[in-house]
Amino acid sequence: MVTASFSDPSRTTSASEPPPECPAHARFGDPAGLARLLGPEAAENPMSLYERLRAEHGPVAPVLLDGDLPAWLVLGYREILEVAGTPSRFSRDSRTWRWFREGKVPPDSPLLPMIAWQPVCLFLDGAERDRLRLAVTDSLERFNRRGIRRQITRSAHQLIDGFAGRGAADLVGDFSEQLPMLVMTQLLGMPDEYGPRLVEASRDMVAGTETSVASNEFIVETLQQLVRRKRGNTGHDITSWLIEHPSALTDEEVWNHLRVILIAGNETTVNLLKSTLRMVLTDPRCHASLAGGQMTLPDVVEQVLWSEPPLMTIPGRWAAVDTEIGGQKVEAGDMLLLGLAAGNHDPAVRPDPTAPLHGNRSHLAFSSGPQECPGQNIGRAITDTGIDTLLARLPDVGLSIPEEELRWKSGWMTRHLTSLPVTFTRPRSGSAVTAAAPVGVGAAAEGPLRDGTDSASRPAAALPVPYPPPPALRRRASWWDSLKGWLRGR
Ligand code: HEM
Repeated sequence: MVTASFSDPSRTTSASEPPPECPAHARFGDPAGLARLLGPEAAENPMSLYERLRAEHGPVAPVLLDGDLPAWLVLGYREILEVAGTPSRFSRDSRTWRWFREGKVPPDSPLLPMIAWQPVCLFLDGAERDRLRLAVTDSLERFNRRGIRRQITRSAHQLIDGFAGRGAADLVGDFSEQLPMLVMTQLLGMPDEYGPRLVEASRDMVAGTETSVASNEFIVETLQQLVRRKRGNTGHDITSWLIEHPSALTDEEVWNHLRVILIAGNETTVNLLKSTLRMVLTDPRCHASLAGGQMTLPDVVEQVLWSEPPLMTIPGRWAAVDTEIGGQKVEAGDMLLLGLAAGNHDPAVRPDPTAPLHGNRSHLAFSSGPQECPGQNIGRAITDTGIDTLLARLPDVGLSIPEEELRWKSGWMTRHLTSLPVTFTRPRSGSAVTAAAPVGVGAAAEGPLRDGTDSASRPAAALPVPYPPPPALRRRASWWDSLKGWLRGR
């Protein structure tokens, strides 16, 4: 069953409906006949909407976004590779969107948190994108494999310790929604206690509630404080590596990119964890395969990245020139959305959707081209190491409700489980985390090293300047004004 989480559908047929004679709209076809990407059909069953659009329009389909703004949804695997891989024709700079330039984007559009321009590599092309992106990719790649897995194992044990004694848990709320942020705060060089607050704040911010702006301010203040402290006291963490990078980022560029890393890395990895756990717990073939050694956990993760990519659709390419793609004439300033889930199921490249995909990594879950996700190996590692640790601690863990009773929530970019209730035999031993590694500010702040040693094997050391308590979340009267402010880069 699906719970819709898109905006009020009545908004989409509002007074903002374009005059029928508008030539820019006419190119997309009769607005009354266009599918709404943020409508009930997409929320109920996004895959069936994508297949209907593919059958009606081919690999590139016109769709309506909130506020009745038309855009192109790219459904074909090859067409997605072409759009994502040709920045000279398809730019990442959202300021070129015609509806922005013509003032037609509603100020409360649910698209804005994802597409309003910010001074980060995600929204840039060319040399400036390369300068900033190099700092991000170099910093993410400095972690060594063994070190990062140790951090993940330690965080997973910490979470499992919290519910192991109960003999029951919700693997969404108690585990999947906590683990990625807990790991990421360590990789960024923050104290452990920031993890839960940042989980809460980043989820609230993405959900677009009335406290979203306060949550964003909490994240920004925390990151600004972190950058100030690390400037004079660098260590072995992403924040320090961004500061030290030869690309010479300003403090503002550093905290803006830390924010992108947190937001881009958390929600996606949470969704991947949930979907992979569901498959491990419910798919008898997968269970048998894992036990029988035919399919490793990383294989299951890859299978999920094909069948249920954590981001089904991403906004984010704007035509730089008049061009043609998938049989559609696209004009400079048009927006294109990449249908990553639809591309993964494109019959042109996967004629038999049931054929096994073991080890095949050519899915589109991390997109492709110069903006392909730079954190994918960290996301994969959090997922398979986290689940590995869970299965080792709770070997008989099993769903406590029938699979058919699992509930899903859909937005226009994601579709994910709302809970995963399980039971298991209570382990006899106590906390595994204290035995596994030192837990504390020093160990968390240092992170794994490139040379093969990692912080977990070294004694914990206190930070020279103690962190003040996390700033309190504040409510604001006009949250949208503030949201627009930070989306523009404050
Ligand atoms: C496993 C789950 C993840 C998935 C499915 C995922 C997917 C994506 C996708 C689809 C994009 C957009 C690429 C484009 O516009 O073409 C992206 C961008 C990005 N991701 Fe990930 N991601 C994941 C985890 C992570 C993690 C763990 C991090 C950081 C540690 C991260 C950091 C980023 C950054 C910084 C960008 C922006 C890159 C740029 O514009 O140059 N992601 N990701």
